[in-house]
Amino acid sequence: MTSRTIVTDPFDYVVFGGTGDLTRRKLLPALYQRELAGQLPSSARIIAVSHRPATTETYRQEIGSALTCTFPVTEQSSQALHRFLARLSYIAADALSEEGWGALADTLQPRADCIRAFYLATAPDLFGPICNRIGANRLITERSRLVVEKPFGKDLASARVLNDAIGRIFAEQQIYRIDHYLGKETVQNLLALRFANALFEPLWNAQHIDHVQITVAESLGVEGRASYYDTAGAMRDMVQNHILQLLCLVAMEPRSSSDADALRDEKLKVLKALKPIDGSAAHMLVIRGQYRAGMAGGAPVRGYLDELDPQPRPSSTETFVALKAEIANWRWAGVPFYLRTGKRLPGRVSEIVISFRGIPHSVFDDKAGPISPNRLVIRLQPDEGVKLWLMIKDPGPGGIRLQHVPLDMSFAATFGARSPEAYERLLLDVVRGDQTLFMRRDEIEAAWAWVDPILAAWHEIDDPPRPYQAGTWGPSAAIALIERDGRTWLEGVA
Ligand code: BG6
Repeated sequence: MTSRTIVTDPFDYVVFGGTGDLTRRKLLPALYQRELAGQLPSSARIIAVSHRPATTETYRQEIGSALTCTFPVTEQSSQALHRFLARLSYIAADALSEEGWGALADTLQPRADCIRAFYLATAPDLFGPICNRIGANRLITERSRLVVEKPFGKDLASARVLNDAIGRIFAEQQIYRIDHYLGKETVQNLLALRFANALFEPLWNAQHIDHVQITVAESLGVEGRASYYDTAGAMRDMVQNHILQLLCLVAMEPRSSSDADALRDEKLKVLKALKPIDGSAAHMLVIRGQYRAGMAGGAPVRGYLDELDPQPRPSSTETFVALKAEIANWRWAGVPFYLRTGKRLPGRVSEIVISFRGIPHSVFDDKAGPISPNRLVIRLQPDEGVKLWLMIKDPGPGGIRLQHVPLDMSFAATFGARSPEAYERLLLDVVRGDQTLFMRRDEIEAAWAWVDPILAAWHEIDDPPRPYQAGTWGPSAAIALIERDGRTWLEGVA
């Protein structure tokens, strides 16, 4: 992509959970990519903290071999890799005791003036204890920030407890709650599409839009994360955060300034305008499913229950959700937002489909064929791009025959280069002090306030998730949910 690379101010990134999966798979590779792009200042440091005994030397070796497995080493990148590893240091410290905190304080102290970001890539129950120790050891400077990962609570009450715990030590302006979907290139493009073009905004309302579909499908199963996933399920893992954030960006009003809070204020209004779904409505409007054995990528795969650790057992955790939401405000009254997400679906695809209303009257005779409504499809992954489906005359002499064809813009074909990973942007936004793509306390709580009654209704009705075969589009009830309204799920993969 055409992008300018501006070297950031010097920083110290302190990553708690430094030996964990997230740090190894996402955070360090993202920072390394920025190293390759020449965006890290020479004095930037990354300090990994974890309770596991290790030395800086062994940590660097471990990370070095993980990075070289993922990224091919060239002459140029080998220098960058060397530079990057030299930035890394490792401190063994315990979140629940004073062990190791003195060493961390000694490491940070000489650079009290530079940006200091504490990244909590740990289990949420450690957020409070770690923040308390950061505070007690006087590690917070004027330029300090706190970054926290999801899951941010499992309901409104627990999210409030977490918010209170971190809020006692850090001010809201210092807190960066990550939803990595907001860092995805195409998600931000949604903002460009809506607010940098005059074309769509006049049509972006109930008068012209029939309905919206948001699909986040994954072909993978729970992949060794069953112990976490079984306590969460698709509603908490994907809908409460990623999918509701996408919905907010589609539905929000233009922000009044480029200020981070101006955007977050608008998202919050959308969340607050979501029509509550509770009691028997939850049963009608929300379908939950759980995959059984089937096929993925041409190979047979086990069902969800068989993937549970330490051994297969019954579980009513959903691996699929499809639901119909409505936003009760002037712009969107009566426009359904169909949302669906699931594991072990036919492919990995995330997209937003804006389906416009049909034409009021056809001037063509029957021979022209049916006229389909216009659709705007924003593909977040893979093959990021935008398609605008239009009716066009089939070329050739003779009468008019109409066809529904897309104006198709693939970002890879248009811009050529690699699309950066979400974490690359988000990690450096923290350094730049830009909170735009991070969730504010009230947003998180408003999202839980909408999700909680659905979870409660499931609990009360004791309605187990409907089975679906791995490699299919979820239970048939999900198809019935939209077809009942005379509509159908669009696009996606076959
Ligand atoms: C995470 C969820 O937040 O997002 C995972 O916990 C999910 O279950 C992942 O697989 C999907 O992210 P992406 O970027 O691969 O679409």
